[in-house]
Amino acid sequence: MTFDLFDDLPSAPQAPEWLEPGAVVLRGFALEQAAALLEAVDAITAQAPFRHLITPGGKRMSVAMTNCGPLGWISDRSGYRYGPVDPDTGERWPAMPPIFQQLARDAAEAAGYPGFAPDACLINRYAPGTRLSLHQDRDEGHYAHPIVSVSLGIPAMFLWGGAERADKARRVPLLHGDVVVWGGPARLRFHGVLPLPAAQHPLTGACRINLTFRKAG
Ligand code: SIN
Ligand code: FE2
Repeated sequence: MTFDLFDDLPSAPQAPEWLEPGAVVLRGFALEQAAALLEAVDAITAQAPFRHLITPGGKRMSVAMTNCGPLGWISDRSGYRYGPVDPDTGERWPAMPPIFQQLARDAAEAAGYPGFAPDACLINRYAPGTRLSLHQDRDEGHYAHPIVSVSLGIPAMFLWGGAERADKARRVPLLHGDVVVWGGPARLRFHGVLPLPAAQHPLTGACRINLTFRKAG
């Protein structure tokens, strides 16, 4: 099942859509590399499988996650943090593929943040019904660098909020190949993802894959 809303949107790269100063949606920015990115995700998850992390409050996250790069984002009863080792395997996180690094750098540059060199890539897998509640990305210890977030597979409704959790959040449909970049004055904006409607995508089946690039160290 797909939505007319999504079907009608163009699938070629489009002009940047600014959400506010510092934050932009680059439609279709990752389309050309999408198949290669997903192949790389398969190789990464063969080494560091997707898992459902536990929040510090003891809840199992509905989004399945893994990481690549020198640092990976993890959550457990003791808190949220970045670390070099996958706690499930005891091994370092798989290396960040060069095409990931290049895409993140290019997208950041297109958004006005040249020279972005991420050291962490969180890989999120959303199944239908999965959601990510409003949160800020603030475990990086410093906020000088932007966040680059790549959407692959079935569509999602991204929530773009404000500086406070209670601020009204705007709904931004994100499609396969879209990239969102936020930094500078928008770096600590609350954001999230509404429960994913069921759909199928030729490259990912019934799921959405999100790559979130950060400079954490
Ligand atoms: C995130 O905030 O970590 C992911 C956002 C998304 O899946 O689009
Ligand atoms: Fe986030």
